[in-house]
Amino acid sequence: MLNSWTLLISNLKNTKVFNQIRCASQVLPQLSSEKYNVRRKQFGNIQASDVDYFKTILSEDRVLTDENDILPFNIDWIKNCRGQSKLVLKPKSTEEVSHILRYCNEKRLAVCPQGGNTGLVGGSVPVFDEIVLSFMLMNKIISLDELSGALVCESGCVLENLDNYVRKRNLIMPLDLGAKGSCHIGGNVSTNAGGLRLLRYGNLHGSVLGVEAVKADGTVIDCLKTLKKDNTGYHLKHLFIGSEGTLGVVTKVAIHCPAMPKAVSLGFFGVKNFENVLRLYASAKSSLGEILSAFEMADNDSISSTVENLKLPNPISDYPFYVLVETSGSDETHDAEKLSRFLDKEMESGLIVDGTVTSEPGKMQTIWNLRESIAGAGLIDGYVFKYDVSVPLANYYSLVPLLRQKLGSKAVRVYGYGHVGDGNIHINVTVPKYDQEVCSMLEPYIFEEVAKLNGSISAEHGVGFRKPHYIHYSKDVTAIHLMKQLKQLMDPNGILNPYKVVPEV
Ligand code: FAD
Ligand code: MLT
Ligand code: ZN
Repeated sequence: MLNSWTLLISNLKNTKVFNQIRCASQVLPQLSSEKYNVRRKQFGNIQASDVDYFKTILSEDRVLTDENDILPFNIDWIKNCRGQSKLVLKPKSTEEVSHILRYCNEKRLAVCPQGGNTGLVGGSVPVFDEIVLSFMLMNKIISLDELSGALVCESGCVLENLDNYVRKRNLIMPLDLGAKGSCHIGGNVSTNAGGLRLLRYGNLHGSVLGVEAVKADGTVIDCLKTLKKDNTGYHLKHLFIGSEGTLGVVTKVAIHCPAMPKAVSLGFFGVKNFENVLRLYASAKSSLGEILSAFEMADNDSISSTVENLKLPNPISDYPFYVLVETSGSDETHDAEKLSRFLDKEMESGLIVDGTVTSEPGKMQTIWNLRESIAGAGLIDGYVFKYDVSVPLANYYSLVPLLRQKLGSKAVRVYGYGHVGDGNIHINVTVPKYDQEVCSMLEPYIFEEVAKLNGSISAEHGVGFRKPHYIHYSKDVTAIHLMKQLKQLMDPNGILNPYKVVPEV
């Protein structure tokens, strides 16, 4: 028998954990330009006349110039990057975005598009004095076709709000991530965010039906179709999915929302070693088939960081590895039978050593919360070096012990967790404070190891500011050349999110 749920676990809301983490350190991060030794490009400098012009397009309260008001827009979520922007603009419509960009392009003023600012690669904050273009006020839902599941909304809609909205209509958003309470759908599209449901619903190149975007020169590109099939010419929407605000800014999104599953169950299991995690994954795929909707793993140090740093309870005992298996289907009895056969088999085989299974929404939320909180728990240790790689499953975990050995006592913790079903592991290294020596031990070492395995140095978080100069570890030189040509075509003055994604010569 699996352990019954005996612990009284407070149902922490994501936002609470977010605030706890945000307040953990009040020390300002070093300026990105100094920390990473970057030279400012030849952009225009913002003049008082520019601010006055923006005030004629937007109401005054949507043009921020006060240092304290701007500070949060200059610092990224993991408090690694800090920009020096002096101006934040908050448009409310595509037309306003278009006016802003046309003006910036003419004056060669650089712009940093920003959604919920939950990005983990420094792409969402300026490096120097780029103008922050915040989408936080573009948050209207435009339409929902309940039969086809096509949702159309503005890019600043918060993912969780969209999910709550469509759930009332028996649909769900095709993506889910720990940052759902803050991240915007425009940010999700611009980063091609993966997350916890990718195994089931695929990535956003499949779910996004259309986008409206504005080019650097202010031209509005209308690809906001809601059709599943549309082979009229080039599929231009894909240029904006995952290009991290470097080719255009996303102002509206049309996305396919799948039907809300009628029966959902979640299991949290203790596993003896990593080989058994992979065996369990193979078994889950074959036994659970179409109802398997998530297969996540976390090693012991990942879970202990949430237990120790965020005081979240672990519902089972201490194990070397933990696996989270979610099933989502349409027939409760049929799904429960399948899950139960899988559990019986794998408890008997010993792949599952211990665990808990629940279908109660509150308890499922508590387990998900434990998994989703790993992202921020390490910040309490001081500083987190975050890596987001995909490698063949056989080598999925191999970098973690290598790094532990390499860093020894220099690291507080080295841990791995992630989306096994997608071959995507997150490796976090925590240290008391940012340390250049540790950084040099990690980079480019990790990227070299990933390249040897034919993996990707950025599985789902993007390239942002932190990885353009490492992109060649995962992209061929001809592909990088084409990226540069596209950038030149779409944004000849390079004003959109400079210093990000596209490597310099
Ligand atoms: P931001 O962080 O504001 O911006 C991200 C990038 O997109 C920047 O380059 C920015 O310039 C650009 N951008 C933002 N909005 C627009 C726009 N409208 N037009 C053009 N460019 C734009 N990521 C995953 O893939 N999977 C996960 O499971 C996951 N979990 C996370 C959990 C936590 C706790 C946190 C903090 C982050 C997580 N992330 C994850 C990373 C992050 O949440 C995603 O990348 C998310 O999609 C970013 O959305 P955002 O609105 O916060 O964008
Ligand atoms: C996750 O899967 O938790 C996110 O991608 C965030 C992270 O890498 O920490
Ligand atoms: Zn992830």
